[in-house]
Parts: sequence; structure tokens; C-alpha cells
Amino acid sequence: MRFIHISDTHLGPSPTFTYNGFNSYRHLEKVIETINSLPFAVDFVLHSGDVTEYGSSEEYALARRLLERLRFPVKYAVGNHDNGMLLQNALLGIESPSGRYDHCFTVDGVQVVILDTNNGFVPNGTLTERQLSDLRKLCTPEGAPLILVLHHPPVPLDTPWIAEGWAGFGHRSMLLNESEAFRAAIAPARERLRGVFFGHIHRAFQVQRDGILYCSAPSTVIQFAAYPEQRDPKPAPDEPPAFALVTLNGAQLTVRQYALSRPESP
Ligand SMILES: [Fe+2]
Repeated sequence: MRFIHISDTHLGPSPTFTYNGFNSYRHLEKVIETINSLPFAVDFVLHSGDVTEYGSSEEYALARRLLERLRFPVKYAVGNHDNGMLLQNALLGIESPSGRYDHCFTVDGVQVVILDTNNGFVPNGTLTERQLSDLRKLCTPEGAPLILVLHHPPVPLDTPWIAEGWAGFGHRSMLLNESEAFRAAIAPARERLRGVFFGHIHRAFQVQRDGILYCSAPSTVIQFAAYPEQRDPKPAPDEPPAFALVTLNGAQLTVRQYALSRPESP
């Protein structure tokens, strides 16, 4: 089983919109062309959220036209820059969207569960008591191999602006508020849990904690600098757009990153 992990595309209302100085539409267009010309197939493309910048229906209509070019199905997590209802309706054509877009599917006997951690247009994410209780029911020791996906990191990464927040945004962290409860809920499934995948921080991180792999994807448009002890977020324009390829072969999960040059006239 293989999938491509992309994240934080930040598409705006028009193809000329720029995000942190770069045209997010042309960057995603190039990522899509690259994925479509890979010399192998994947089962799906996972987008771990922040499809758009403002969460408007115009942006999702634009995103739909662009992402429909992918030759593989795309599965979405809702980011803090997304509107979950419009993502379901305008991007995916779901006529009766749910308040929280949690969904799951099975590929090659692997269960993939995607959780909606949207908490509005702020850095930190949330899970409801109901979601946590469903997660506890799901994460039993026995069962199919499992992959979990959410937009916000559920582990405290070793960069202060991510783990503790920064003054410019009221010291709200970038993490899932209920990180500890999330980790306690999933712990019993450790043996069958192949990985927890997230986005939001615009950088590839790999964390191993309690025997569980946590793994984020880089942004398709711009990375954020995230050094240890760094107190404020800063764009890192010298670092290229990128995506990850995840392969699950029996008990082994392999993740590799592919960086791209920026499109011409970025
Ligand atoms: Fe985000």
C-alpha cells in the first residue's frame, strides 16, 4: 500500500494569489504534474489540511478544478484555514456535509482514519469528547493495520513557537489541545498502528514516542523555519516545496520526501 502525503497548499480565491510571496496555485500545479508523472502508482493522495487560505467556496471551486487533475483519488483532513462544511460541499460534492468531517476507508486491508481537528482560524486544534470516545473504541489492540491522520500535531515538537505558541498569536500553540488524551486513546492500538500523519507546521518532522511513529508532510508552497529554541515562526523561502511518499509493506512503513524546484515565475 502506498500513498503520497501532501499538505498546506493554501490556495487562494484566484490562480494569481500569493502566499508568503509565492503563487500557491502554480506550486500545487507543479506538484500535481510531478505526482502524475511518477513511474509508479499510489493508492491515494493524502492532503492533511489547509487546502485553502480563507476557507471560501470560490477557493474550493478552484481547488476542485486543480486537484481533479491528479490521477489518484485524494483524501482530505480539515485544516485551520479550511471550512469543513465547504470543503465537503464545494470541493468533494457531498450534499449533506457533517459538522465534523471525520471519515475512514480501507485500502489493501489497512484502515485509514482521518479526524477533523478544526478549531476555527487559530493555530491550535481540538477534538471533541465524542471524537475522543470514538477513538478509544477504535484503538483496541486487535484489528487491521491502522493509520491515523489529523491536521494538528498531537506531540510537542521541540520548537517553542510550535509547542508553546508566540506573542503575535496570543501564545496559542500549534498543537492539538487534547494531545495527551489523544495519545492515551491510541496507545492500546500501538502494535497495529503504523503511523500518525499530520500537517500544519509546514515541515517534515518524524517523532517516535511510546513506540508510535508521528510524521508530518512539508508544504507544497513554503516551509516554516523550525529550529530548536526558535520562538517566532518565519517563512523559509530557500527551502523548496515538497511532498512525501509513504509505503507500507507488511510490518514496515517507509517515508521519503521529494523536494521540487519552484515553478517558473513563482
Ligand atoms: Fe494549518
